[in-house]
Amino acid sequence: MDAFSQYLASGLSRVDGWLNPVSAAFVGSLGAFQRSQGWTGSCGEIGVHHGKLFLALHLLRDPDRPSFAIDLFEDQHLNSDGSGNGDYGAFMRNIQRWAGRTDDVKIFKGSSLDLDPARVIEACGRSRLFSVDGGHTEACTRNDLEIAEAVSEPYGVTIIDDVFNEFFPEVAMGLQSYVAKGRLRPFAITPNKVMLTDPQFARAYRDWARADFSHRYDKTCVMFGGEVDLYGIRYGSYPGWKQVLRDSSLYPGLKKIKASLAERG
Ligand SMILES: C[S@@+](CC[C@H](N)C(=O)[O-])C[C@H]1O[C@@H](n2cnc3c(N)ncnc32)[C@H](O)[C@@H]1O
Repeated sequence: MDAFSQYLASGLSRVDGWLNPVSAAFVGSLGAFQRSQGWTGSCGEIGVHHGKLFLALHLLRDPDRPSFAIDLFEDQHLNSDGSGNGDYGAFMRNIQRWAGRTDDVKIFKGSSLDLDPARVIEACGRSRLFSVDGGHTEACTRNDLEIAEAVSEPYGVTIIDDVFNEFFPEVAMGLQSYVAKGRLRPFAITPNKVMLTDPQFARAYRDWARADFSHRYDKTCVMFGGEVDLYGIRYGSYPGWKQVLRDSSLYPGLKKIKASLAERG
């Protein structure tokens, strides 16, 4: 089994963080598609926490290129919206455990708000897979999407987290304000992730996904004037009602309802 599949099968549930397995599989398949096209580039992330998604990206990297990890790490006093909790020690231990070495990861410690994208390009080259999951404010989201655009190859894909998470409404606002001037546009949505690319490559990615991920295709919608395909949402990200009814811990209110019904006989 290759390192990525092994990580998906055994590592994903052991590394702390936020990544739905459907989204992880989608990213893996997308990375393989890029390789099949001869599209090279670095892989990395803003906002790595303990490395759950970062490891997937790192294991998909081109063999001769380091990947990049951008995070506040221990400077959590700068984490203005409290999203995640970077931890350099936990991150490095996970890289060592699931990738076998850590020397091919370039670390950029500090706020992405102060990061010059040229430093990432200089250290790792332009990117083909770039995840934006750092600060969840409007300003951070817009800033980080601008960095992703500046670092990406024309065919690069940017993956942004939490656009539809009602706990972080400013991420959606950040995407909206990025799109007013930015080049990248969404082409796919998977559980908790929106994938963006340059519009000239959207057709190629959508065709690939419709062929390779057809078993998870839900529907097509329109965002910012372009078609976007949804994968794995209907049964992927939220527990189905049957599951909620089976496991009342998923819905604390249900316990009370069950108890009061039992009282009434
Ligand atoms: C939601 S967590 C990331 C989850 C991670 N992508 C995963 O796969 O589990 C958000 C991360 O962003 C980092 N962060 C928050 N604000 C940041 C900023 N301004 N610059 C860089 N990193 C930031 C936090 O330290 C935290 O590790």
